[in-house]
Amino acid sequence: MPVPYFPFTDEPYQPTMGLKPLDLAQWLEPDLLQAAQLRLKADLLVREHALVLRASPESEVACRELYATLAAHLPVHHPDLYTADSTSLTVRALDRAFPLTPPPEADARTLLSTVARWVQEDLCVLAPAAPVTITAGAVCFPSRWNLPEKFGQASPAIHAPVPKFAGTIGPATHSFLERLTVEKPVWRLNWTLHDSDHLFAPHAVPGRDDLTPANVLTHVFLRTERQTLRRLPVSKAVVFTIRTHLHPLLEALPTPEATRLLLHTLEHLPAEVAAYKGMAKFIAPLKTALAARLA
Ligand code: HEM
Repeated sequence: MPVPYFPFTDEPYQPTMGLKPLDLAQWLEPDLLQAAQLRLKADLLVREHALVLRASPESEVACRELYATLAAHLPVHHPDLYTADSTSLTVRALDRAFPLTPPPEADARTLLSTVARWVQEDLCVLAPAAPVTITAGAVCFPSRWNLPEKFGQASPAIHAPVPKFAGTIGPATHSFLERLTVEKPVWRLNWTLHDSDHLFAPHAVPGRDDLTPANVLTHVFLRTERQTLRRLPVSKAVVFTIRTHLHPLLEALPTPEATRLLLHTLEHLPAEVAAYKGMAKFIAPLKTALAARLA
């Protein structure tokens, strides 16, 4: 699989909003891993439902609109993967048809867990007016956090563990979420490195003890999150999507320039940020290994 995003530059690290206008035709980003990831999500939504799925009764109008919006969007923008007739949406990877309009008897949780099975993205629904709290979510591929921890919270509390966030982009993020308009959806990227290839990573972990300059490059994975934010026109709820891409690090380093940019980023990463990202145990051997590749 090609690595879709390479987030490293010569800029020193600091949290950035990095919002770009989103063309809604590119709202979602299915790829060749769709069938495997939808199977994994369906399994997690049953086996780990307490950690990955939550919806408050107040979110039902928004979840109903999200269902209808996705059912309309998918066959138009991804006709090779989804088809529709006058009454049903077929998700080809699942070989299954669903009602095109949300079933009237379905509650918020049922609606959200149904649409979560259609797309690779994790989905969060935020309240339509301030305080913009998380009112519903189906998050199967979190990077060392989980939905119950964040449920019902607004941006300042959600982002409290992120170093330097409150003192830099915290206030702008908070007010952006209140002011986002239906007409101007956005997307942004986050990145991190993990010492595991598990997409479902709902807890902070101490990290592996056995990584050395000799083996670290083959045991570290680049995780990028393509996130989108849009406000739905009827319920006015904000929908936040997270599309996680996970690749062996070496796949992201095809050239010496790519290796140099990653090394540069890691050399300027504040220690508290490396610790927050779960990289404390392997960042030193990783820097040594990257420098050796460039020598
Ligand atoms: C303009 C909007 C947003 C910006 C600029 C933003 C920015 C960030 C940044 C910079 C991080 C740190 C990532 C890292 O360094 O690894 C982060 C983490 C996070 N963000 Fe956001 N974010 C935004 C919206 C949201 C929304 C709407 C949610 C709602 C679910 C959210 C949930 C999270 C969570 C759960 C984390 C991980 C926090 C933890 O480790 O406990 N973000 N965000």
